[in-house]
Amino acid sequence: MCGIFVYLNFLTPRNREEIIKILINGLKRLEYRGYDSAGIAVDGDTVEKGQLEMLLVKRRGKVRYLEEELEKQVQNGLDYSQMFDTHIGIAHTRWATHGEPSWLNTHPQRSDAEHGFVVIHNGIITNYKDLRAFLEGAFALAFKSKYYPNEVVVTRRGSPLVIGVKSKTKLATDRFPILFGKGHSADHRGGGSFYPSSLGALEDDESTLAPVGESGEVEYFFASDASAIIEHTNQVIYLEDDDVAAVQNGKLNIHRIKRNFDDPKESTVREIITLKMEIQQIMKGNYSSFMQKEIFEQPESVMNTMRGRVNFEKNQVVLGGIKDYMSEIRRCRRLLFIACGTSYHSAIATRQLLEELTELPVMVDLASDFLDRKTPVFRDDVCFFISQSGETADTLMSLRYCKQRGALIVGITNTVGSTICRESHCGIHINAGPEIGVASTKAYTSQFISLVMFGLMMCEDRISMQNRRIEIIQGLKKLPEQIKHVLGTDNEIHALAEELYQQKSLLVMGRGYNYATCLEGALKIKELTYMHSEGILAGELKHGPLALVDKAMPVLMIVTRDPVYPKCMNALQQVKARHVSS
Ligand code: BG6
Repeated sequence: MCGIFVYLNFLTPRNREEIIKILINGLKRLEYRGYDSAGIAVDGDTVEKGQLEMLLVKRRGKVRYLEEELEKQVQNGLDYSQMFDTHIGIAHTRWATHGEPSWLNTHPQRSDAEHGFVVIHNGIITNYKDLRAFLEGAFALAFKSKYYPNEVVVTRRGSPLVIGVKSKTKLATDRFPILFGKGHSADHRGGGSFYPSSLGALEDDESTLAPVGESGEVEYFFASDASAIIEHTNQVIYLEDDDVAAVQNGKLNIHRIKRNFDDPKESTVREIITLKMEIQQIMKGNYSSFMQKEIFEQPESVMNTMRGRVNFEKNQVVLGGIKDYMSEIRRCRRLLFIACGTSYHSAIATRQLLEELTELPVMVDLASDFLDRKTPVFRDDVCFFISQSGETADTLMSLRYCKQRGALIVGITNTVGSTICRESHCGIHINAGPEIGVASTKAYTSQFISLVMFGLMMCEDRISMQNRRIEIIQGLKKLPEQIKHVLGTDNEIHALAEELYQQKSLLVMGRGYNYATCLEGALKIKELTYMHSEGILAGELKHGPLALVDKAMPVLMIVTRDPVYPKCMNALQQVKARHVSS
């Protein structure tokens, strides 16, 4: 995934070194998203035709190569001490989707040889061929221009973009109206033209975010992810799809071309949200990677998912985000769970239990396939969208598809304020804490627990279900200790992994409650080791996969003492026989 980071200091003196440091640090915070090139654009030293030239520095590869390139420029005379009272710097990490990683393809991209406008983009413009006709596709964009010094314009559709605001004095407002294009103004307002000759024409105190007080000092940060902003400020605004945010003279306005008059719930304001995230939560500490840190956080993160929701003494569960919708959910025709990757596996993992506890038909779908099939959805369906980030494009598009058809939308996300969160009717925050590692780990266990808690709420009034409920709730109580125990076997697991890593392929097999663990295990093995791995339902062994099994093929079986234990042992015998006979 590409990463965007923009820093604007207004009447806040910074030298070029400080500005570049903030930009580079922002990119480092976004490194976890994966990338293969990086670049920045800042103001240069020379003034030509009355305009300050733009300095564009880009490099293929890691951010540290970009830093090396910048050091070279300093040795060649770039003045790091030059002061800027007001300045805009834009920075980008790119993960090549169209066109190989190269200097030319690296962002910022420029409009012409003179760097009149530079732009950074996150997302995939799949319809790039039609682009000249009309701008579509997924994007988060930030523009800087030497013709409009000290102004920046950003916009998004499908890719996330968050704005951080830092000011020594109080902000004039924490809730400000959007400026709509002509004929689309919010009811109480006159509105403005969307394509003004000067954005200043749209300025309006009510619709403007700016600090109060005389100094006017303010800093803005625009990023793909709040983790790149949190060390500067916890005051953020999440942009909605098709929002255009512009800063001029240190004042921020948000514009939209038109209103959706068909949607009575359409928000005509944007709010400043105070993030609860702490800087330590996005630091790696002594762990070798964010993913390792997040795996070891699980005894705590699963507890945080249940905190204030599960009462282990009274065997009660209350999920504040959905409790008002429970009677509607209980009356539904069926439950649909839609997600991608690991989040999808959390639904597979809980499907059996949810069928048991809710006694409703449960459908689990991969978001991309759900959309491809144009799956029929009805008003009395309840559709759950599970997503750690709350921004995954296919999951979000499926949400909108179901919402249009009148279904109740329940979001299950880890990211407060994310698009899925905002567009759901109700939902559950899994409260696992920031997950920086791209390969999802602790979010999976917290998603699993969130879905189990939902199942427990669904059957709270069923007398016949009480013993089972108590058994599950008391089981949840033991989870943190059990996870600690498993994490204590780290060295043994490491030794086993080193041995298996030598193989070409690895089959992970199980059934029943453990099937999802096999799928998730195989996904992690593929994503992290680039080794082939497949999760196999043990019941399907004889219908094809057995052909793969011989002495050379390692098979990892997940077996627990549950109702399908004898069947698993049967599959184990078949595998063993193949290992001996081949
Ligand atoms: C993939 C990640 O890109 O997105 C997976 O590698 C993740 O780990 C999947 O599960 C879906 O993401 P999300 O944020 O919707 O849960």
